[in-house]
Amino acid sequence: MRKYVIAGNWKMNNTPAEAKALIEAMKPLVKDATCEVVICAPFVDLTACLEAAEGSGIKIGAENVHWAEKGAYTGEVSAEMLKAVGVEYVVIGHSERRQYFGETDQTVNLRTLAAVKAGLKPIVCVGETLEQRELGYTETLLKYQTKMALTNITAEQLKDIVIAYEPVWAIGTGVTATADQADEGNGFVRAAVAEMFGAEAAENITVQYGGSMNAGNAEELVAKENVDGGLIGGASLKAEDFAVIVKAASK
Ligand code: 13P
Repeated sequence: MRKYVIAGNWKMNNTPAEAKALIEAMKPLVKDATCEVVICAPFVDLTACLEAAEGSGIKIGAENVHWAEKGAYTGEVSAEMLKAVGVEYVVIGHSERRQYFGETDQTVNLRTLAAVKAGLKPIVCVGETLEQRELGYTETLLKYQTKMALTNITAEQLKDIVIAYEPVWAIGTGVTATADQADEGNGFVRAAVAEMFGAEAAENITVQYGGSMNAGNAEELVAKENVDGGLIGGASLKAEDFAVIVKAASK
């Protein structure tokens, strides 16, 4: 059975007080959700989010994790540290980290391995730029990024992994992929999983779409065969909008 997951990615937004208020506002609005509801927040907000979300069913995630267990990595946070504060999910390989912070397919893989080893559930992001799409590289690139991210992952560990297809050109731009483009991209991701782990594993893995998903377009996107939820940026900063998306994925 494929699990639907709607995850907010707050990016670099919200102080702990703002985080608490936003989770409190979301709680009554998403209480009837039948999909998994996750909020991924900046490190300093995680404790406030966990406290505010307690007993609500909203799961909390971080936005990045280092691959080493501990050591001289100034400014970094380990998977064990996240696990110890009670975090369940972690976003890995977001295109903003690939674009601005030197994230590579190899470091995405190392982070994913460290996360599952510590018992965290990675939300691994893949996606093509507009230039790559226009050159016809989308399928090759999505399969390559997916396979790199999942290298040395076991079939058992795969069950804890969510993959988010986020076309870079659709992130924060207001330009959403059409439902067919989202379905196709998610299908390429699923095909890569099938090539590595077999048809059943590919059928069961949750593949989200992300990129300008909002209250107005979520229903059409999640109705697609290959779209098992969403990774939501801007619209996850507004409780009402986020709740509409959760509702669309709860049908
Ligand atoms: P937007 O929903 O703001 O386009 O961001 C998508 C995203 O990057 C989620 O990780």
